[in-house]
Amino acid sequence: MTFLGTLQKSGRVIFELLRRLLDRGFGSDLNPLNHLGALTIYFFWIVTISGIWLFLFFKTSVSGAYHSVEYLTHEQWYLGGVMRSLHRYASDAAIITLALHMIREFVYDRYRGNRWFSWVTGIPLLWLVIPLGITGYWLVWDQLAWYVALTSAELLDWLPIFSDSMARNFLSADALSNRFFTLMAFVHLIGLPLFLVFGIWLHVLRINGPRINPPRALMAGSLAAMIVLSFAWPALSQGEVDMAQVPQSLGLDWYYLLVYPLLKTWSPGWVWGLLSGISLLLFAAPWLPPQRSKSAAAVDLDNCNGCARCADDCPFGAITMMDRSDGMAYEKEAVVDPSLCMSCAMCVGSCPTATPFRRHSALSPGIDMPDLSAAVLREKILQVSKKLSGNRRILVFGCEGQNKMAKFKSRLNGSETATVDIICMAQLPPSFIDFVLSRDLADGVVLTGCTGGECLYRFGEEWTGLRIERQRDPRLRKRVDTDRIALAWQEPWSGLSDIAAVVAALRDSQAVDHIARQGVDEKISLPSGRGNSWKLPLTVTAYALFMVFVGWLSVWPRYQLIEQNQAMVSLSFSHAGQRIGECRKLTQEELNKLPPNMRKADDCPRERLPVRITFSSDGTTLYEASRPPTGLWSDGESNVYRRLVIPAGPQKLFIGMVDSSREAGFDYSLEQEVDFLPGQHVVVEFDSIAQSFSLKRNSHDPD
Ligand code: HEM
Ligand code: SF4
Ligand code: SF4
Repeated sequence: MTFLGTLQKSGRVIFELLRRLLDRGFGSDLNPLNHLGALTIYFFWIVTISGIWLFLFFKTSVSGAYHSVEYLTHEQWYLGGVMRSLHRYASDAAIITLALHMIREFVYDRYRGNRWFSWVTGIPLLWLVIPLGITGYWLVWDQLAWYVALTSAELLDWLPIFSDSMARNFLSADALSNRFFTLMAFVHLIGLPLFLVFGIWLHVLRINGPRINPPRALMAGSLAAMIVLSFAWPALSQGEVDMAQVPQSLGLDWYYLLVYPLLKTWSPGWVWGLLSGISLLLFAAPWLPPQRSKSAAAVDLDNCNGCARCADDCPFGAITMMDRSDGMAYEKEAVVDPSLCMSCAMCVGSCPTATPFRRHSALSPGIDMPDLSAAVLREKILQVSKKLSGNRRILVFGCEGQNKMAKFKSRLNGSETATVDIICMAQLPPSFIDFVLSRDLADGVVLTGCTGGECLYRFGEEWTGLRIERQRDPRLRKRVDTDRIALAWQEPWSGLSDIAAVVAALRDSQAVDHIARQGVDEKISLPSGRGNSWKLPLTVTAYALFMVFVGWLSVWPRYQLIEQNQAMVSLSFSHAGQRIGECRKLTQEELNKLPPNMRKADDCPRERLPVRITFSSDGTTLYEASRPPTGLWSDGESNVYRRLVIPAGPQKLFIGMVDSSREAGFDYSLEQEVDFLPGQHVVVEFDSIAQSFSLKRNSHDPD
């Protein structure tokens, strides 16, 4: 098995263990793991509604932001506080379901072939959701917000977008303006959400009937769990921003800020490298390696009456009904887009012309699968049924590649049961079941397939069930005795015995009794073997664990920014290096060659020298760098920005700068003794008017 195969298989084992556990509490229909994409959308709804409430009270100013959030949290705790907590916890829950949704699509191999589109359009959603959370933390303007703002700005500064350093704005209160909060509020409340809505629309665009709403009970349960969590453990701010004092530790929301601690030891370039590397790998994943392509469904216009059932049933929106092109009396015809077709064969199951009662030569439905046509399928059924004997003969249909079916087949003995493989259970038109029973090819029919949203092609279980129950076209004819049909939907983790048990139950039922068939009305029911007494405790435990998980990682474990006996120094200034050469007087001859409006006496080089910096504490060099000039022509100022952690206590600081081509010594320097208090934050600045360095200290400074 390849590395990819092993990874997917291991993932499936873990996923299915978890699903099995949850299934015992929630049941298959309500199992949250079967509604991950829809749950993510639902959590975004909660985030949106709670966000609107917060916005009504939020003040977009440096001084107002923190206090308006504090008002909501403490004064209006019964509503504003709950809304704030819901806003945070639903955002965190969305990351959990989003991550599981992604893992699920990967481990079940639903991201390659023509499914690449949903996968590839999912990745930008990550790049929208995470910044959405980050900008949200920014708006609260507490100590965590300050750390988030500073670290995000350091990351952005690495990109060649801004000529000036953005991080500098977060080093002193006077550098920060209210306009910044207005911008942030716009990005968080309007910009990113709009892109996200568009992104989700695009993401599910190619999917027919995407499941965007989870079942009501699941919505109610998860909302109730988050409301309980909001009262029990309300979301709180982490102290007002004091840029002069670095918080020792912070409660980090690990769902959104997971990579931020990396910046303590990694350069922003490495962090960008990691994030871009992961994204590129994810983008390329559907083609690593590409999925072996199967033949797409093919339309035979001579047999297509334009009824549109195939287009309605196709789970991947691969069929479009177009105006008739062959002059036949019908209005429309089915057209398959091979780039969207997943070769699931469900369209064959929905086509009214796919009936085995037609003469062999004429069994050519309006739409068919080149890899397993309806005619070949009928032939297969005829061949297999010939091997059956006894008066309780069962024909079992299974989907190809279905693990449990393969195991069931390998243990079959005797001639009372036989199996037929088809592409997906919904490939089988109900008329084929009628054919098997009315032509006495078998006494009972078992249809197997994956349940719990695990159908590889999404709707196999649903369409088959509805057709057999005569609720969806093409319906099973009334003359067919449904007691002779059993559905054995397999949870992927269920044991082999489930198919065997259904077969045994069907065989034992009087309905398939060849002799006593008349007047029997007994339903096949599987011995479930699962007690219901665990249902409630398991569901409650699952919700409790969900709450703990959401609440815990939203602030724990605390992130240690600096040690108890440490302080911080930030070097932050811009300074232009000298020009790379002297100005030169132009000769009269050179001047004559220039157009009159461009004549100037001196020719000065535009380019500037880099600025070299050395910073040391008690004689130990902590930072030494040569900062290049900014600007397209290298004629702008050089930016110097660096955050350094140093021990608290008395330190002799030295900063030296060279902006010329001198080899030794410094053009500007400052040496000063500072007695650092633990956590104290000092900013080293360069005054461009006075042409000198200064230390910006704070109120805790004993000097
Ligand atoms: C905001 C985040 C996301 C939301 C709200 C979301 C939601 C959804 C929904 C509702 C579906 C349709 C499910 C169905 O009806 O069967 C879906 C399908 C899918 N999603 Fe996402 N998704 C998100 C992010 C992602 C990401 C990050 C990836 C992977 C990189 C991804 C991969 C897929 C794939 C491959 C499918 C198609 C499954 C199939 O064809 O059966 N999604 N998503
Ligand atoms: S084979 Fe499946 S995906 Fe292709 S057209 Fe038919 S229903 Fe749609
Ligand atoms: S279901 Fe069959 S007959 Fe109807 S439009 Fe599709 S191919 Fe044509």
